[in-house]
Amino acid sequence: MMNYADEYKKSIESPIAFWQEQAKNIAWYKTPIQILSTDSSNPSQWFVDGELNTSYLALDHHIEQGRGEQIALIYDSPVTQTKQKFTYNQLLEQVAKFADVLQKQQVNKGDRVLIYMPMIPQAAIAMLACARIGAIHSVVFGGFSAHELAIRIDDAQPKVIVSASCGVEIEKIIEYKPLVDKAIELAKEKPQSCIIYQREMVEAKLQKNRDFCWQTLIKTANAIKAIPLPATHPLYILYTSGTTGTPKGVVRDHGGHAVAMQYSMETIYGMTAGDVFWAASDVGWVVGHSYIVYAPLIAGCTSILYEGKPIKTPDAGAFWRVCSEYKVNALFSAPTAFRAIAKEDPQGKFIQQYDLSHLQRLFLAGERLDPATYSWLKDKTQLSVIDHWWQTETGWAIAGIPLGIKNMPTKAGSAGVPTPGFKVEILDSLGKQLPANTSGNIVLKLPLPPGCLTTIWQNPQRYQLGYLSTFDGYYLTGDGGYIDEDGYLFIMGRTDDVINVAGHRLSTGEMEEIVSAHHAVAECAVFGIHDELKGQVPLALVITKNGVNIDKSLLQAELRQSVREKIGAIASLKQVLIVERLPKTRSGKILRKVMRQMIDGEPYQVPSTIDDTAIIPELDDVFKKNILT
Ligand code: COA
Ligand code: AMP
Repeated sequence: MMNYADEYKKSIESPIAFWQEQAKNIAWYKTPIQILSTDSSNPSQWFVDGELNTSYLALDHHIEQGRGEQIALIYDSPVTQTKQKFTYNQLLEQVAKFADVLQKQQVNKGDRVLIYMPMIPQAAIAMLACARIGAIHSVVFGGFSAHELAIRIDDAQPKVIVSASCGVEIEKIIEYKPLVDKAIELAKEKPQSCIIYQREMVEAKLQKNRDFCWQTLIKTANAIKAIPLPATHPLYILYTSGTTGTPKGVVRDHGGHAVAMQYSMETIYGMTAGDVFWAASDVGWVVGHSYIVYAPLIAGCTSILYEGKPIKTPDAGAFWRVCSEYKVNALFSAPTAFRAIAKEDPQGKFIQQYDLSHLQRLFLAGERLDPATYSWLKDKTQLSVIDHWWQTETGWAIAGIPLGIKNMPTKAGSAGVPTPGFKVEILDSLGKQLPANTSGNIVLKLPLPPGCLTTIWQNPQRYQLGYLSTFDGYYLTGDGGYIDEDGYLFIMGRTDDVINVAGHRLSTGEMEEIVSAHHAVAECAVFGIHDELKGQVPLALVITKNGVNIDKSLLQAELRQSVREKIGAIASLKQVLIVERLPKTRSGKILRKVMRQMIDGEPYQVPSTIDDTAIIPELDDVFKKNILT
């Protein structure tokens, strides 16, 4: 086993040789000779002359290697009392047939397919089927509203939407079809057809000549082969929140992605073919794309798709039950999920009830792993607890404790050391490199390793402006933090208007746009404040228009409802405060960070350019009386 320092050095000093070597670990139709190329729109293009197919790699290849009867996917759904196992042979059959269904709906290479699904196997099947024929999928998280869905339909312009009749949220049935219908009505770009998986609990109404039933179409489908695709062909678009109301469509390719997924399974997670890997996330998020669907299957592991929650389905022992039942070797989830479990089961009694002898390690990401949750997990499970840091844009972890290389110690509060391939630096606002233990902008020196975004869909300028133009030669992560004297990275939070609510990445800028649209609102500021369970929750401060006579609690309720309707219940905007004034600098910039620090009880500095210093004690008083933290 290589040691970290050597592996890391090789990856940074000789990226071409390093990734050429890694590319040998996957099966290509045409092995790439040109390893790294650069053009004006993308400084990090990998394997441009290679040809492969991700669906082939994830399925057919394993069958050819004799793993056809191994379990590829386990569906465990406590909310519907369903359990189902798919061998690689069985999963391939479903995927290859659904690829035919898509083709018969005139979906061709390069066409987009939008997937709006609950956590059922058909979500993964649809994704792999798109990959098989070179269609580009765009999965939209099921918790997003019709309005958010419409924005994504207009941007991705899908030929087909794949959805299901409903999702199940603990005991609540969420009908998806009315949301799909509403989104299509709102969108300017209409899809040609919709394919709906009809679940037992609800039968969706189908519109003649536009909507088709999954189960009916698959009956007459023939299994079709994967087609060779250029390595740079887009595999998917995944929308993520930026600082404005328009989400960014992160584009990922087939080639770089497959190589990165394979490398990460071995190196970061220490998994080999036949191991059982469980990412307790959702296919609508990047963790679900990379570690429920693609990476475990590319690496020949067994993956678990879990339709349930960490608690209440039926209790705080749910995660441990799944780990024990399927002999899970590594579990990956968000700190918020474990905070919810620890709250309900502080003594860890459920952990004692299950045989967890196969579980070796726990991986956490999505938000900072707070020391209390880290200690609780370590203490109660006695397992390695590994925080690792990544983003939708990178597709895999930028930093962590790479297990496949050498078992390095973890440090509480740190997201680990940079993953081989990622050259992480800390710069001040002028682009000067900062010394150890000094906080600044976390940036990645170009080129980015394989697997990272190749562009923003339909908007290469946004990729340039948002990520590549702030510091020449670097990718701007949008996170702030520092590297300590031992090379460990500490992530201190976003430097932009993005917040993380229960592991869901959301834009406060978008919430401000929604709140400001209310006829009674003159001005507003939305920012994230600390929350014991969800990490962060949004808070809206609102100034009403002069002369508008509206009941305060009615306005608060209307604003909460409109964010819920426009974004979705996951936005969790619960607290809306009506205030007289907002603190601003003389140039008009609202001091959101200062207000957040005041509420979170952190030290804060009021800039000398503030227009009226009296507002700070005034707000302090308002916050003390009103904020429920
Ligand atoms: N479809 C529809 N609605 C959804 C949804 C989905 N897929 N996911 C969440 N919602 C709704 C919930 O029903 C809830 O609605 P309500 O306000 O009507 O009750 C609302 O969105 C907020 O849900 P959630 O964010 O899940 O908060 P919660 O208080 O119900 O549960 C946790 C808290 C911590 C248990 C839960 O957020 C959780 O499991 N988080 C982990 C998230 C995660 O794994 N993220 C991936 C990171 S890798
Ligand atoms: P997403 O794109 O939804 O995966 O969210 C990415 C953002 O989540 C990052 O930019 C960070 O702000 C935050 N994040 C993810 N993982 C971690 C981590 N391990 N520690 C701290 N913040 C994290």
